[in-house]
Amino acid sequence: MKLWGGRFTKPTNELVDEYTASISFDQKLAKFDILGSLAHVEMLAKCKIISSNDAEVIIQGLKNVAQKINNGEATLSVEQEDIHMNVEKLLMEEIGPTGGKLHTGRSRNDQVALDMRLYLRESIVHIVDLLSKVQKALMAQAKQNIDTILPGYTHLQRAQPVRFAHHMLAYVFMFQRDVERLVDSYKRVNQSPLGAGALAGTTFPIDREYVAQKLHFDGVSFNSLDAVSDRDFVVEFLSNASLISMHLSRLCEELIQWSSTEFHFIELDDAFCTGSSMMPQKKNPDVAELIRGKTGRIYGHLIGMLTTLKGLPLAYNKDMQEDKEGMFDSVETLEGALALFAPMIETMTVNKDTMHKAVQHDFSNATDLADYLVSKNIPFREAHAIVGQIVLHCIQTNNYLLNLPFDTFQQFSHVIKEDIYDVLAPASVVDARNVFGGTAKERVMEQLQIAEELIDSNMKWVTNYEPLKDMLLT
Ligand code: ARG
Repeated sequence: MKLWGGRFTKPTNELVDEYTASISFDQKLAKFDILGSLAHVEMLAKCKIISSNDAEVIIQGLKNVAQKINNGEATLSVEQEDIHMNVEKLLMEEIGPTGGKLHTGRSRNDQVALDMRLYLRESIVHIVDLLSKVQKALMAQAKQNIDTILPGYTHLQRAQPVRFAHHMLAYVFMFQRDVERLVDSYKRVNQSPLGAGALAGTTFPIDREYVAQKLHFDGVSFNSLDAVSDRDFVVEFLSNASLISMHLSRLCEELIQWSSTEFHFIELDDAFCTGSSMMPQKKNPDVAELIRGKTGRIYGHLIGMLTTLKGLPLAYNKDMQEDKEGMFDSVETLEGALALFAPMIETMTVNKDTMHKAVQHDFSNATDLADYLVSKNIPFREAHAIVGQIVLHCIQTNNYLLNLPFDTFQQFSHVIKEDIYDVLAPASVVDARNVFGGTAKERVMEQLQIAEELIDSNMKWVTNYEPLKDMLLT
């Protein structure tokens, strides 16, 4: 029997039940659905909309339902369509017709918006925690590689040398923006829609603030129509998830390149690689590849959700049930990637020698030679041309700047003195960029310090979050 069967004269087509049901996926919301109901029913009693006796019975019943769902003892049915009606049905099986009072002053429309917000709120905190752990892993590699110098690239052509710590820090700050975006979005997620009813509010004298406080919301939504039709917070999360995936994917791409024989800059730990079924010599960076690959589905969910919403009139429309799978999948895909990422970074071996050799066999110090000429009062454009000719000469004679004989330097410009070899050494080249945010040792140390403080404050934000779980136990 359907909970809304009253005005119908025949049962739904059997395909319709299957097609419209969301229980196969929205059962993930069970915990939040029941927490929301616990707060709602307490409020109903407080406002004397139902008796406190009834409320007590319902609360105990809900806790039993929660336990049964948790232990896999509850049967969730397609006939009851979604998690909200399944829980209500289970409650009535538990405590009889009194269970029918739970839904007073509430609609599935505000209820589902509430559940989504509770789910996302917890997921955001978890993802910030995982991101901070990735940042910490990058920091650990950075600290061990302050003096490891490798070529920095533009256009994937060697450009100027950088410290490996500097490279790791670039990602630390990238992930910091991701954390900040999530933290900022949290305040838009953390508004209680409960009380909006189906679309227009409710005739009962409910206390929206009380429910909001019970559920640790920062406040209540301002407009009932907006409250039940808004899924911006889902889009915003999917957009943030897309940026995080893109960042992870870029780093994965570097890890994959760096672990190739051609680069040989790093080696990923055996525990994070897999072999080939045919080629015995292979060790493939599958984890990094798959994280890069899964970026596609997260972008897909963002576009999917935006598209689902674009033509919807106010307020709730069944189309909005499509908000769930993409969100769940994005959360789980990200959680999976981030949980693997931190240990994969921590355990990778940095081939300092290969990096060191690389910066000695390239022209990544050419800008420094030009800057040197500028310091001798040669206009930069002229200096650029002179160094271009020196580099060409090196290429033609199979040489690098650091092993060019002194008189050859002098043939190109008399202002070049013996100190040029010190100036062009990789360690001097990185230290010469002593600008805030630059590659000089003290600047990199400064960045480490800044990053450390930011990560600490991320962790503090995470520990400030109070989970609602306990409400189910008391
Ligand atoms: N299963 C629905 C969803 O996920 C819940 C809200 C349904 N409301 C309704 N009036 N049909 O969107």
